[in-house]
Amino acid sequence: MNFMNKTNPIGFFDSGIGGLTVVRSVTRLMPNENIVYFGDTARVPYGSKSNNTVVEYSLQAANFLLRKNIKLLVVACNTASSVALKELRKFLTIPVIGMIEPGAKMALQESRNGVIGVIGTRATINNKAYAHELKKLNPKVKVYEKACPLFVPLAEEGWLDHKVTELVAKEYLGEFRNKKIDSLILGCTHYPILQDVIQKVVGKNVKLIDSGTPAARLVEDYLNGRQLRNQSVHHGQSEFYVSDVPVKFREVAERFLGKKITHLHKVELNELTNE
Ligand code: DGL
Repeated sequence: MNFMNKTNPIGFFDSGIGGLTVVRSVTRLMPNENIVYFGDTARVPYGSKSNNTVVEYSLQAANFLLRKNIKLLVVACNTASSVALKELRKFLTIPVIGMIEPGAKMALQESRNGVIGVIGTRATINNKAYAHELKKLNPKVKVYEKACPLFVPLAEEGWLDHKVTELVAKEYLGEFRNKKIDSLILGCTHYPILQDVIQKVVGKNVKLIDSGTPAARLVEDYLNGRQLRNQSVHHGQSEFYVSDVPVKFREVAERFLGKKITHLHKVELNELTNE
């Protein structure tokens, strides 16, 4: 492994704002860690693109973050975790943490009846990322999956408690009603932003599983295991990079993270594509 400093930042990427749900989990657990976030807002959504395109964009995002000297990469996007994790691990010498395995493990721990729902982007659902992982860990589990692509633009738009979001949620999630699921994996990092509406529609007896929570614990374990935890007693610095600056990014991000975003920078697409 390259020489790595404990104060180097943890890198995160997503197609847009969704990965901030993972940043929130990580910074709650380890507030003294430095963070670099990249949201590919010029090319969101990833979930309706081909696997090849998502792999290409993921490698570009990872290379951008490597230039910021990250000590660990969190693929804070389920779509990229579903299709690009192997490639990323092949090319990177630092640890790479995805969303699928920690989310599936947590769902199995939380479910009492072994009937689990999964919602995600078209790519995540079509690739059966969670279904495969869940069945690998417990072949007896029953899995019901549903792609909910419209949740991504609704989250990016900040329509967190809008009646349109509730209508869309009812349309997508209605079919889970008679499936007896007792837990629902939010298999897209944008979805925890809409958590309140989703919970209202599926009912309070269904436990919502946010992969960001177990992924954050995994990040902590990795860093501890490699003696890479930041020892500072101060809050870490957070830097945010986006490939386009959508009007709503700052507003939704600040509302969601509960703090001011002071370092928000735009990255030109050719900075990502020209190696
Ligand atoms: N937030 C991402 C995910 O977890 C991607 C959403 C999208 O770009 O379609 O899948």
